[in-house]
Amino acid sequence: MNYRHSYHAGNFADVMKHALQWACLSYLQQKEKPFWLLDTHAGIGMYDLQAEQAQKTAEWELGIKRLLSAAEVPAELTGYVQAVRELNHGSDAESCRWYPGSPYLAALQLREQDLLTLCELHPEDAELLGENVRHDFPLSQRINVAGGRNGFAMLKALTPPPIKRGMVLIDPPFEQTDELEQVTLALAEGTKRWANGTYVVWYPIKDPIVASEFQQAVADLPQVEKALAVDLLIRGPQDASRLNGCGMLFINPPFGVVQQLPKIMNFLTPLLAQDRGAQWQQHWLAGEHN
Ligand SMILES: C[S@@+](CC[C@H](N)C(=O)[O-])C[C@H]1O[C@@H](n2cnc3c(N)ncnc32)[C@H](O)[C@@H]1O
Repeated sequence: MNYRHSYHAGNFADVMKHALQWACLSYLQQKEKPFWLLDTHAGIGMYDLQAEQAQKTAEWELGIKRLLSAAEVPAELTGYVQAVRELNHGSDAESCRWYPGSPYLAALQLREQDLLTLCELHPEDAELLGENVRHDFPLSQRINVAGGRNGFAMLKALTPPPIKRGMVLIDPPFEQTDELEQVTLALAEGTKRWANGTYVVWYPIKDPIVASEFQQAVADLPQVEKALAVDLLIRGPQDASRLNGCGMLFINPPFGVVQQLPKIMNFLTPLLAQDRGAQWQQHWLAGEHN
């Protein structure tokens, strides 16, 4: 396990992922009934953009820095942008220092009645995740850090959840060649046990054909009745050895998020573009307009 998210925090992929994560939880917040979020690959929760690792790649400069520099953002993005700004005490994009990971953003959106379970396999990262959560959310009984636990195994072990509404966020490092297959198997297990849950998977796009094979494999799962893929290319994918974009696959996507997608993605695509050929598209893999 060599992957450390601190090299990539706040990059274009985090911006897309966290903007859509924020939209999903905002939608779940609309009903009083509690929700549960399982973050299977949590990372450390809080990233120092001025530290050596983030400085070395400077990926955040092509991601969150661009978003914070935008003169205006659509209403659908203000909650997420505001959360990052507040963490940085309103400092300008140039001197932005702290970037929140998926667990931290989720914790900010948690209400009294909701529950959050965080899995992180890497022992050092799990330790840091625990520290970061305890530091900023010290009294929270609603956040459970499953440090040193395999997120795929936890998905199987914790479903169906006692709280019936909720979401599973799956964001693996994709450093092993079979991780897309592992995700598909985990989704098969999860949807067998908890068919009504919302599942959200982040995946890289190097060669778009690989991404579409993954999408098809998920669409073919017996319990999947509604699934939507949203792909972002930050450049044309001519060189399949590069990270040319990323996608988010939703099983049972929240209705409100489907409605907001065009506004969010039409704004983010030119903002995050790194070369010609940047574009986004969505395809229903199952259900709706399929
Ligand atoms: C892409 S990062 C997660 C970033 C985080 N979701 C965010 O948006 O802030 C992937 C994380 O998964 C961890 N990891 C790798 N394999 C895992 C597994 N099987 N179960 C849980 N965590 C795992 C890695 O150590 C890494 O911290």
